[in-house]
Formats: sequence, C-alpha cells, structure tokens
Amino acid sequence: MNHFEYRGNSLFAEDVSVAEIAATVGTPCYIYSRATLEHHWQVFDEALVSLDHLICYSVKANSNIALLNLLARLGSGFDIVSGGELERVIKAGGDVSKTVFSGVGKTDQEIQFALQTGIHCFNIESAAELTAIDNVASRLDQVAPVSIRVNPDVDAHTHPYISTGLKENKFGVEIEYALPLFQQAAQMAHIKVIGLDCHIGSQLTDMSPFIDALQRLILLIDDLKSNDIEIEHLDVGGGLGITYDNESPPSPAEYVKALLPLLENKKLKLLIEPGRAIVGNAGILATSVTYLKTNAEKHFAIVDSAMNDLLRPALYDAWQNIIPVEKRPEGKLKNYDIVGPVCETADFLGKNRDLNIQQGDLLAVCSAGAYGFVMSSNYNSRPRAAEVMVDGDQMHVIRQRETIADLFKGESLLPDPG
Ligand code: LLP
Repeated sequence: MNHFEYRGNSLFAEDVSVAEIAATVGTPCYIYSRATLEHHWQVFDEALVSLDHLICYSVKANSNIALLNLLARLGSGFDIVSGGELERVIKAGGDVSKTVFSGVGKTDQEIQFALQTGIHCFNIESAAELTAIDNVASRLDQVAPVSIRVNPDVDAHTHPYISTGLKENKFGVEIEYALPLFQQAAQMAHIKVIGLDCHIGSQLTDMSPFIDALQRLILLIDDLKSNDIEIEHLDVGGGLGITYDNESPPSPAEYVKALLPLLENKKLKLLIEPGRAIVGNAGILATSVTYLKTNAEKHFAIVDSAMNDLLRPALYDAWQNIIPVEKRPEGKLKNYDIVGPVCETADFLGKNRDLNIQQGDLLAVCSAGAYGFVMSSNYNSRPRAAEVMVDGDQMHVIRQRETIADLFKGESLLPDPG
C-alpha cells in the first residue's frame, strides 16, 4: 500500500502533484509520503501486538533525519551500523536506549561513543569485536550490553550481494561457534549478554529462509539455556522484501504470523530490524527527460538522474518501475532504455520500458524510498538530489539539493610554489 497514485493523468504523492513538486524543487528529487511511511511502521507494530517487542528501523535504508524523527515519534527503535548513523538518530530525537548497533567493523571510537550515549546493545559479529568492546567498556568503567549475531548458514534466495546468512558471508558468528562465544562473553567483567541476533539477507520474498533461520536460533537458545546462559531478547533482523515488479512477499502481518508459533513459551522480547519494508514503497525518484535519442538498435531516454542518484539498477541489476508523471493521452508507446548522463555503460535506471514520452517530460522511478538517496554519490561531480516529504497537502524540503560549492567542500590546493 502506498500513497502515490494517478488522479486523472497526473501522478500525486498524497494530495500534492508530483509535477508541482518538481516545478518547485527541480529534479532529480526524492519524494517521500509520510502517510505511507507511518502506515508501514504501524502495520508491523500491530502485527506484533501480542508480543513484547521493539521495532528497530534499519537506518541504512533511509537515514534522512526528518524521516527518522517521524519514526521516533511513533516510538520506533533503530538499528545502526556506524557512529554517523547514531549521530543521526540523536539529531532526529530518536531514543538511543532503543538502538541496536550492528556491523562487522565497529571502531573503538564508535564503541566508546555508543557506550557513552547508552545504546540498547551491540550486535557482536566476531570474537575480536567482543574483546574490543570489553576493553573499551573496562576503560570507561561500564558494562556493555551485547547480543551475539549468529550466521545460521541459510540461503536467503536473494541477490548474492544482499545475502548475508551463508558461511561464505562476512557477517555474524558461525552458529556452531556461538555457544563458546556466549560462554566467553558471560565470563567477561565488562560485558552483559542480553540477546541473540541474526539477519540473513535483504529483499526476501518467501518465508522459508526466515523460518529455517529461526528454527536454528531456537535450538541455540535451548542449548544456551542448558548451559545456564539466559538471554532477554531475540533479534530476527530485517530482510522482508517489497513488491518492485511482480514479487509477492509476505505482508508484515503474514511474516509475523509465521514466526509467532516458534516463539511461544520462549518468554523473549522480540526485536526486528526492518528497513526496506518500511520505507521502500514510501518514496519515488522524480526525474526529467533531457533528451530522446535513437540509434540503429535502440531508443534511449536520457534523464537527469543517474547511477550516482540511484545505484540499485547498476549495482544489482535491480528492476524498479518507471512511470510518467503526466500521462500523455495521445501518442504511441516506444521501447526505451532509461539512462543517465554518467559516463558508464552501467548507468541506467531501467531497460526496455514501454513509454509514451517526449523530451522535457517527468518520470517517476517507483519504490525508491529504501537504498536510494543513502547510496547516492557525487560521481561525475554531480550534486546530490533534493529530498521532499509530503504530508497530506503539504510538501516539506527535508534535504536541499547540493550546490556546486558543496562539491569542493573540504578540498584544497597545494601551497603556491612561491
Ligand atoms: N539489519 C541488518 C543487520 C542489515 O544488515 C540490514 C540490511 C537490515 C537489518 C535491513 O534490511 P532490510 O529490511 O532493509 O532488507 N543496498 C541493498 C540492501 C542492503 C541491505 C543491507 N543490510 C539494496 O538496495 O537492495
């Protein structure tokens, strides 16, 4: 469900026309719908009502502070992977005590900062990291709450670049070595083990890998119990997919419903770390057609957004729907590759799309709320796009378009030779 719909021939974000936003802010421009974002968070929350639970929205999916602030107002927790993301949560008024810190390469400075701010826990990904956290906590005379992220060796059946739960992946601790690591952690003076954690991949469209992973975690919890290690929470990570094309992933309610029977009588708080399922379909990327070009083989629509603005098609060959912002009542469909101005053959937003368009028309790349702006760069010295949040009939610029001066910020020339 999302609030991007045609009214007549015009695409609207809630009650604001996308053409009007583009006229005001320019393109490329990310446009988010507050109602869609909040609805998706609430659907998870309602599905989990029967359980003690905490939704830790995965900040990496979209980290704009306005968006984080809206989720914080709903009571959300956060899943972060860097000191920078923690700063964003704080800036957005998020509750640090509901924040979990994932990632394989936390530095001492990040660990110290997270301990001083009082995060909920570290999701530990290796024995070396456990030692580092114990050392930093000891220096600060604190006890660090930790959860151990296990790698259950489950195939998530998703793109290999976004699969994380296989032995060949860098993430988590192999499940067979988890018990000794829990035992080691339990002996450490400055560590308190509070949870078990897992995240097997992203854009999963089928329940079975989630169930397989959870079954393995439950066996481990029983094993921990028989070794006198009691944990307070189980964190099942994120990963629930969305519909980009014709996928039919389980809804959040179906997802939760399938997990619940396995959790009965476990008396554990459940943490989840959804990113894409909350924000993916709450955003579009508006772009305009700079030129149409035809060669012997193909028609191209050259647009003003590129792989630096939206990397997913170039990086994962990801398919995202591309639709006109104003439908043309007359004219014929032609088959286009939608490409950007960046000097790379991988610079495309979509291939083989049937569209009826003219130079100057606006297009919307759908489902661009997650892993869109956050993965953007300045490649080819392109200022990054503006971001707008629509709320009913109001639009708010939540990030200004970068300026050319921003591109050189922090750069300097060598001193004059004199
Ligand atoms: N928790 C952890 C530890 C994660 O690594 C991730 C995503 C999430 C939660 C959130 O997963 P989600 O619910 O959004 O699937 N750039 C890729 C996706 C990378 C996901 C990385 N980890 C893409 O555009 O498809």
